[in-house]
Amino acid sequence: MTDYALLDSQARALLQDEPDALAAAANFVALLKDALADVNWLGIYVLRGDELVLGPFQGKPACVHIAVGDGVCGTAARSRETQRVDDVHDFPGHIVCDADSRSELVVPLLAGDELLGVLDIDSPSLARFSAADQQGVERLCQTFCELQQTRAAFI
Ligand code: SME
Repeated sequence: MTDYALLDSQARALLQDEPDALAAAANFVALLKDALADVNWLGIYVLRGDELVLGPFQGKPACVHIAVGDGVCGTAARSRETQRVDDVHDFPGHIVCDADSRSELVVPLLAGDELLGVLDIDSPSLARFSAADQQGVERLCQTFCELQQTRAAFI
């Protein structure tokens, strides 16, 4: 079980005094990848116009451009709602980047009303992400976006 309260305080400590958005995002991704078990890919897609563009991540090289509305990431961006997918093969339009991925959690990164992008987490195990994981990761993303608002620009 991941201790999300601890992870949240670690994220705050790591990010709160960092004025550079790219450095903060890269460290946020590294912190989460290190803390979450059974994850093969974890990273940020940044909203640029009407598409998501690959940002800081850990894992195999991945698709660089995803249109808003496409795949699990684009669906999370369009709906502004977390997508928790137990089996990616059951998700219509799922975009395969790493063939090892079987389940996926995508959380929109919202700073107030502004969509900054999404956080995407992939696991090689079916149904890796529980409702508690979703809640914990949503809280971390909230912290990330809240601290992001203290910076001049996003990535
Ligand atoms: N599977 C995602 C694409 C991104 S990769 O998993 C890194 C999707 O369907 O949007």
